[in-house]
Amino acid sequence: MSLELATAGESHGPALVAIVSGLPAGLLLDRAAIDADLRRRQQGYGRSPRQQIETDEVEVYAGLRHGRTLGTPLALVVRNRDHKNWTWGMSPWPPEGPPTGKGKDAVTLPRPGHADLAGVLKYGLADVRDALERASARHTAAVVAAGAVAKALLKEIGIEVEGAVLGDDLEQRVDEARKAQDTIGGRVDVRATGVPPGLGSYASRETRLDARLAAAVMGIQAVKGVEIGDGFALAGLRGSEAHDEIHRDEDGLYRETNRAGGIEAGISNGEQIVVRAGMKPLPTLMKPLQSVDLDTGEPAEALVERSDTAAIEALAVVAEAAVAFELARAAREKFGGDALGDFVGAHSAYRERIDWQPR
Ligand SMILES: Cc1cc2nc3c(=O)[nH]c(=O)nc-3n(C[C@H](O)[C@H](O)[C@H](O)COP(=O)(O)O)c2cc1C
Repeated sequence: MSLELATAGESHGPALVAIVSGLPAGLLLDRAAIDADLRRRQQGYGRSPRQQIETDEVEVYAGLRHGRTLGTPLALVVRNRDHKNWTWGMSPWPPEGPPTGKGKDAVTLPRPGHADLAGVLKYGLADVRDALERASARHTAAVVAAGAVAKALLKEIGIEVEGAVLGDDLEQRVDEARKAQDTIGGRVDVRATGVPPGLGSYASRETRLDARLAAAVMGIQAVKGVEIGDGFALAGLRGSEAHDEIHRDEDGLYRETNRAGGIEAGISNGEQIVVRAGMKPLPTLMKPLQSVDLDTGEPAEALVERSDTAAIEALAVVAEAAVAFELARAAREKFGGDALGDFVGAHSAYRERIDWQPR
């Protein structure tokens, strides 16, 4: 059974939902660890005051008993505490009483760079809110909750995943942008250690680990570029400078470099996996960009809604979760196991089998 993630939820609706299916039975989950990742996602320099309103906490509705997975679908819920201000505007059912609170007025001013214009055209919507609510990166809370579960599974076989922001001038860039009522993007780097050689396969596009990780990270809002290892920089090098030579000593095979970022031919090669992502500047500006009012057809300024100046530190946490989930999927495919012990045992037996010696 493969590990799968389904999510649901709007930015200001009642909650975000993540259903993780295909987990082995017997995996011990730590509620505090999941909540800690949810908090990490909310923190970071340049985020909006919404992050103080919301203190995300995971609730579990199915698939877990006394902290251990049952091998059945795991249902995770993260409530939107801000929903209390949107009960009329985001009511799932036709609301009762006169319009009140946030979201009561239709949005007709699409923001360049957001889902707004393409979303209303595609789905035939009268209110831009019907598009932006699901497109919003609030969705990434569900990804982070599921990623924390994936990290617990990976830890059982010695794999750790960690995301970080690239560049040390973040705070200065945020301060300057905020002063100018502007926004910024940035770059993040996710590293996975302890990954055995052999996750993913060159057999097809769908099975290549590099393609899968790229899709997982590109699937996060505002990510516009993904590279594995030295990625784009490799394009400017010669072959003699670009590849990671193979050596051997008394302990076995080793490499001195890791420009490939731990993946060759769509298969993990035993080196650290390195995935980098570039995030565009956030599209909601306090000094709004030029747009057109969809009601009148007249030029107008785009919607201004409470928004982050930067979310790059949050992206590092979300990308970490997305990479962890995809690696856990690939590990589950390789090692199977309905019960956690079977999964861990298959990994140990495989590690023994690939302990390479000269023929
Ligand atoms: C963690 C995170 C937080 C974000 N916060 C905001 C925000 O406050 N304001 C905003 O306009 N966009 C924000 N975005 C980006 C938008 O959600 C995204 O640009 C938009 O949905 C359009 O999708 P695209 O950029 O993938 O094309 C955020 C993205 C991430 C990953």
